[in-house]
Order: sequence, then C-alpha cells, then structure tokens
Amino acid sequence: MFNKLCIIGVGLIGGSIAKTARLQNLATTIVGFGREDDVQNLQTARQIGVIDAYYLDIAVAVADADLVIIATPVASTADVLRLLQPYWSANTIYTDVGSTKGSVLAAAQAVFGQVPDNFVPAHPIAGAEQSGVLAAVDGLFANKRLIITPVDTTDTEALRKIQRFWQGLGSAVSVMEATHHDQILAATSHLPHILAFALVDMLGHKDEQSEIFKYAAGGFKDFTRIASSSPTMWTDICVANKPAILPLIAELQSELGKIYQMLEDDSRQQLFSTFSYANQARQRFLNQIETTMSKSITFHIQPGGKLHGETRVPGDKSMSHRSIMLGSLAEGVTHVTGFLEAEDALATLQAFRDMGVEIEGPVNGCVTIHGVGKHGLKEPKNELYLGNSGTSMRLLSGLLAGQPFNCVLTGDKSLSGRPMKRVTDPLATMGADIKTTENGTAPLHITGKAGQLQAIDYTMPIASAQVKSCLLLAGMYAQGETRVTEPAPTRDHTERMLAGFSYPVKREGSTAIISAEGSLKAMNIDVPSDISSAAFFLVGASIAPSSDVTLKHVGINPTRTGVIDILRLMGANIEVLNPREVGGEPVADLHVVYSPLKGIDIPEDLVPLAIDEFPVLFVAAACAEGQTRLSGAEELRVKESDRIQVMADGLLVLGVDARPTPDGMVINGGKPIGGGVVTSHGDHRIAMSFSIAGLRANAPITVLDCANVNTSFPEFKDLVKGLGLALVCTEE
Ligand code: S3P
Repeated sequence: MFNKLCIIGVGLIGGSIAKTARLQNLATTIVGFGREDDVQNLQTARQIGVIDAYYLDIAVAVADADLVIIATPVASTADVLRLLQPYWSANTIYTDVGSTKGSVLAAAQAVFGQVPDNFVPAHPIAGAEQSGVLAAVDGLFANKRLIITPVDTTDTEALRKIQRFWQGLGSAVSVMEATHHDQILAATSHLPHILAFALVDMLGHKDEQSEIFKYAAGGFKDFTRIASSSPTMWTDICVANKPAILPLIAELQSELGKIYQMLEDDSRQQLFSTFSYANQARQRFLNQIETTMSKSITFHIQPGGKLHGETRVPGDKSMSHRSIMLGSLAEGVTHVTGFLEAEDALATLQAFRDMGVEIEGPVNGCVTIHGVGKHGLKEPKNELYLGNSGTSMRLLSGLLAGQPFNCVLTGDKSLSGRPMKRVTDPLATMGADIKTTENGTAPLHITGKAGQLQAIDYTMPIASAQVKSCLLLAGMYAQGETRVTEPAPTRDHTERMLAGFSYPVKREGSTAIISAEGSLKAMNIDVPSDISSAAFFLVGASIAPSSDVTLKHVGINPTRTGVIDILRLMGANIEVLNPREVGGEPVADLHVVYSPLKGIDIPEDLVPLAIDEFPVLFVAAACAEGQTRLSGAEELRVKESDRIQVMADGLLVLGVDARPTPDGMVINGGKPIGGGVVTSHGDHRIAMSFSIAGLRANAPITVLDCANVNTSFPEFKDLVKGLGLALVCTEE
C-alpha cells in the first residue's frame, strides 16, 4: 500500500505499527528515525526486524517516504513538525498517534501557519504500560478504536489512505472533531490515569511510614494498574489536554464531596444507590465492549446492478404502533391490515398483551384487537420490554403516566442509551411520576397517577412526533386541555388516528389540543406501506443506471414525504401515481426511474419530514455530482445509533468524502464508491443504506451487524434481491 513508511519514534506504538504493517503488507520498506539518545532502541528495532533501517538524519529518513508517522510523545509534536518542515513534501502523507488532538492541531498551526492538507491527525486508543520497541507487538491495534480528527481542509484522499491503513492494522476507525475527541478522552482515559496516580501518590507516602502496601490485594492492583504507565508521557498528556481535564477534576471533587457527605450523614441508602448505579453503568459498558463489532448477521453485496420491477414494502411502523395502542384503548374490536410484522411493532403488541389486552395475530399483516376501553388496561406482571423501539417507549410513557398502576419500561442496549428526559420532563410538569437513570435514560419506573394529571400548554424545544404523541396520550388522562405546539411540522399519525377512532383532537396552527373528554370507538385500519422502507428503493433506483421501480400503496402523508422532496431537488425522477385516501391517510404508488443526481443544500425545514431517511439520503448524496450539505439535523445523533457518525465512518471506508458536522454532514459526491467492510452498529437503517450503496460500488461491500434490520423491515433482503441487488446474507 505504501512504498516507504518512516516512523518517527520507534517505541511501543511506533514499533507495534511497524510490526503489524509488515505482517499485513501495508508498507514495502519501513524505516525509523530517532535522536542520538535513542540510538540503542533504534538498533534493537533493526536487529529484531521491526524496521529495515534507521537514520539520525531527518532528511535521509523521510526522503521519498510516502507515509510519515509521528509516534513520539505528544509534547514533542511541535518540535518534530519543525524538524520536518524543511523537507515537507506534497507527495507524502503525514500522520501522528498523539492522544490529545487539540494540542497537535495547535502545534501544526504554530509551525506551518495552518494545518497542512496532507497532515492527518490520528489517535489509536490502544497502549500498554511498558514502553520501548521491545514491548512492541503486532495486533496491538486489533479490534481497538482509532480516531481521526481532520480539519476542514484535510485532503480527502490522504484521509482515506490513513483510514485504510489503520483498518489494515485491525482498528475500527472513526472520524470526529478534535475538541470532541479531547473531551471523550479526558473523561475515559486521562481522568482515570490522574486518579490512579493520585491514589498511589497519596498511599505511597503513607506506606513509607506504615507499610500498608504489604497488605494491599487484587483490588488495589487492578485499580492502580495504569499508574505504572510512563510518568513523562502522562505529564505531557495532562498538560496538553488541560482545558478538557480541569472541569472533570472539579466534577470528580464534587462527586467525592457528595460521598463524603453521605458517609458523614450515615446516608446508607444514598451510598447504596450511588454504588448500585455505578455498578450497573459499568455492566452497561462491559456489555458494550462485548457487543462492539458483533457479527451475527452479515450482508454481502456484490457491486453494481440495477433495481427493476414492482413491489409492496411492509406496513408503516409509526402507524402500526399506534394501531395497537389506540385499538387497545377503544371500545369494541379493531381489525388492522397491513400491520408491520417486525420487532419494533411486535414489542408494542406484546406490551399491550402484557397489560391484559386480547390481540389475535398478526397473520399476514392482519391483527384483531379486542379493545378494553380507555380505562381498561391492567397492571403488567413484569417489566415491559420494548427492545429497540424508541416510539414504543416514548409513547407508552405518556399513556401509562395516568394509569391506576405502576410499571417499568425497559429496552435493549441502544434504547437504554437514548434520551428520555424529552418526555419525562414535560410529563413531570403534568404531575407524572417517572424515574429515569441519572443520565435521563431507561429503564423508566412509572408510578401511575390516575386522576391526578394536569393538562399543560407545552411548546416543544425539538420537533419530535414522539414527544408530541406522548403528551397527547397523557392529555387523554389529564384534567383540562393539553396543548402541544411543535416548532416545525412532524408526523401527525397520532392525531389522524385518534380522529379515526372518534376521539376529539383539535388543531390550531402548529398546536394540537386534546382533553380527557372522549372515548375511542373501534374501527378498521388499513396500514399503508412505510415510506421510510420505500426510501431504500427510491434511492436505489435513483442511483443505479437503468433502474425502474414501482412501489405500491405507499403512505404519502405530507409530514413524511421529505425524502421525495429532497430527492427531487437532487434531480430524482419520482412520479406519484394514483393518489388516494385510505382510512384518513393519503396513499399512492411511487414510480421511480434512474436519473443522475446533483448535490444540494438540504433545506432545514425538510429535516423533520425526512428524519428517518437520512442514512440512505447520505448514500444518494455520495452518488450525486457536487456537494450536499445537511445541517439542523442534530437529532440524528440520538437515533438507534449516532447516524451522523456511523454513516460518515462507513462512507469513508467506501472512499466517499463525507465529513460529519455537529448537526449534519458535508458530502462531496459523484466519485466512484469503493468496496469494504462497514458496520451498522446495530442500526437497521444504516445496514440497509450501505446495502443500497452496493448498487454504485465498484467492489463488494460487507455490512456487519445487520440483525436489527428485523426491527423494521425483515423482508428487506428478499425484496431487494428480487428487484436486482446481489445481496447474500450470512449468519454466524
Ligand atoms: C416516530 C417519530 C420520529 C422517528 C421515529 C418514529 C414516530 O422520531 O424518527 O422513527 O413514530 O412518532 P422523533 O419524533 O423523535 O423525531
């Protein structure tokens, strides 16, 4: 991959890079550079074959190198860059391994006036307590994270090559801004090191008097392991990342202060709660490590092809959830057709069964719900487990806040990390009693407040249909008129379906209004196809030459059609055929044929109307000629995964120039999409989006961790294969 790799500083990290790069054939020649006082280490490195040669003269060391890696302590970065400056070459890519990135960028700026385009700052999150080349191992970076922190002007090709290089060393590569990186590392690495050093410093002095270490055991050894790390290196790191570390030390001091107080006050219960919370949080972290890069279901996509034919994608997820909820609360029997038989909607269905509702099916999308009336739900015997489904949890929190019983809502790892304060805060002002974790996440412990909820007049800070629906459902049990105002239009299925069940909901401009006056009368619901699932085919057919696809019976509620508007702005050819109204919802057939796309600035008012379709829209942008910019979409960071980060990481693997921003993404599209291995991070829409990218790729794409496609679209692989995508699914 590289002809001559020059490593500046052949210690533990530099040596491990060299060893692994050689084994993986990532460089033909590997040379080292060091200062006079490093000569012995460099000699050893050459003797044991880690490097082919070493030089003490920087000019010779970097001559003709196509990759230079600065692997010296982070405090020396400016000196090294100054040393390199006279020989800086446009034909070379430069990178580093420093564990603080703000300081590295500042050093580059100080030396060059601005960060050079061909300098790609990177940080492997791997290490060991030992140092020197003898401690170097191949595989040090296997399955470890590596973070690249480019600036706006960083050359895309250089970025891509560094990313491929680290993937070749076995790392999982992410791209993020330097400040974000520094904050994360301060919390999870720098602060723990400071703590370990501080504790051993304090106890070391005591030991000199009273030999306490003699009696220390495993716990002390485990906790203080990292205090064996290099004092020089950690002094440098702490100094370099001072701005991010200081506030954390202050927080920790206050946390210790709280524990001090609890002990002084004999608050056993509080102490226990603090320790229990920490215990659970650590377990969550361990689970996360275990499931990182899980590979249970993998999609393999052969490149190229086109989509051709007619299909009907499964039922709308949002409407399927609501059909179960409102059908259960209705008087009489509700028949649902077109119900989405996927994990998310089935989680809602199971929750209502657990609350005593008799529900038949689903069989071929048909469900029969024997409604129990607005006050007929029963206390569930166990926790209600809602899997991956944010809609289930957020809507149920509102509905269950005013019931005459208590319950607990739980979910999978992804759902347990998603913000719930957005619903529990306004519900609390209505008088609800819902406890979240300290982070504002599930499990939600709901103490039912039947007859005690008060209506609110609430203006939502974010445009969220889930929050709106949650509050409207709570409003059905509150005294007075609940008013929910949205800052921008969001999907209105709750309001439409309530009206269909004859429950009064008013609308005044952007405000939806509901009260406890009313009851639901059973009805029949025909759930149309989900436009969010159709979106994969709308994009697939738009990007693959000669494609021609018709999608039957798709819901085209105007609060959901942002994807069509955005694709049309990009030049897509989508026809809306045979528009009709089915059960209070607009429905049509969508006909899409290939059309060359161009990059656009996505209008921010379309963001809430296409909120679930951005992963696949990013793929469209990658195929569109020119630049596509998305902003105002920070909500994407708290979906089933951080959809900005995860998509940017994967697109980069495929060679796409995609730069994440805090609230969106900038994609320079139109160049060929490459192949590679990407991971969906357990997010159904990411998995399907990267599969669709295969239509325009020039090499095979492997998508890891695709089991969650079953949450919204279990038929995806069969339907997409039927229309022409060469996708093979394997299970491990
Ligand atoms: C949904 C609303 C949206 C969407 C989610 C389903 C719903 O979430 O992303 O997939 O059914 O109400 P937000 O309302 O939080 O944006």
